[in-house]
Amino acid sequence: MKNPEHVQRVISALRKEGTDKLQVISDFDMTLSRFGFNGRRCPTSHNILDNSRVISEEGRKKLKDLLQYYYPIEIDLNQPMEEKRPLMVEWWTKAHNLLLEQKILKSDIAKIVRESEVMLRDGANTFFDQLHQHNIPLFIFSAGVGDVLEEVLRQVEVFHPNINVVANYMDFDDKGVLRRFKEPLIHTYNKNNTVLEKTEHFQLLSSRTNIILLGDSLGDLSMADGVPNVENVLTVGFLNDKVDERRGKYRDAYDIVLEKDETLDVVNGILCYILGDLN
Ligand code: C5P
Ligand code: MG
Repeated sequence: MKNPEHVQRVISALRKEGTDKLQVISDFDMTLSRFGFNGRRCPTSHNILDNSRVISEEGRKKLKDLLQYYYPIEIDLNQPMEEKRPLMVEWWTKAHNLLLEQKILKSDIAKIVRESEVMLRDGANTFFDQLHQHNIPLFIFSAGVGDVLEEVLRQVEVFHPNINVVANYMDFDDKGVLRRFKEPLIHTYNKNNTVLEKTEHFQLLSSRTNIILLGDSLGDLSMADGVPNVENVLTVGFLNDKVDERRGKYRDAYDIVLEKDETLDVVNGILCYILGDLN
């Protein structure tokens, strides 16, 4: 924490003002899901598809090449966002086009997820269940694949009715074959109001003026931009990769930075305190 007093002040305010005013806004990949396990990288919602058996070997190689080229750009803090934005559109567009070539079936998604190595962070069940029990809306704002991340949540039985997802959703033809990705395209650096314009999500939650925001990219910090009349915001950032070189910028940007922490324990502790489950 760069400013522990600020963090303390915000957490006290969130607790004092109660659950009726609170909403949680979270990224999905590498924030709710694990970045690594036993020294191996865990897949993002895109990678779940990329690595699956339904993708041809050639397709898999091309998708991996894209990841190796664009991921370092995505996380490079020396390149300005304005330069990175068109490159992210390029990455997502090329990857989605490759996926479209593979004629993925809607009916295969559950199996693809089941056979993947995706894992949620330790403590995820407590996190989802706490928010559900206290009727706190959880908005998952993801540049990943909506159909896939929903299925991940369903398979671990945490896709509760308090959850709303905005992400890149697939569109299937009447035979259940993937035919396109729905608009607007969401990538790491446009997770803001520009892609939420057609949803009334935040307007419907206008009394929820206190926010806990969870992310792993600096692009995630704009996820709450569309919330009207914000009063108190607590931002928690998971710093998963290139920790030493990115620590300074993350501490400047996020209220709390968790370095290589594969758990949701800190967030769960804060929620427990705010929700009054702990005195
Ligand atoms: O849910 P979130 O917004 O984190 O999802 C986006 C993540 O997916 C990015 O951090 C990016 O590294 C990853 N990605 C990927 N393959 C793509 C495009 C994005 O793994 N084709
Ligand atoms: Mg992420």
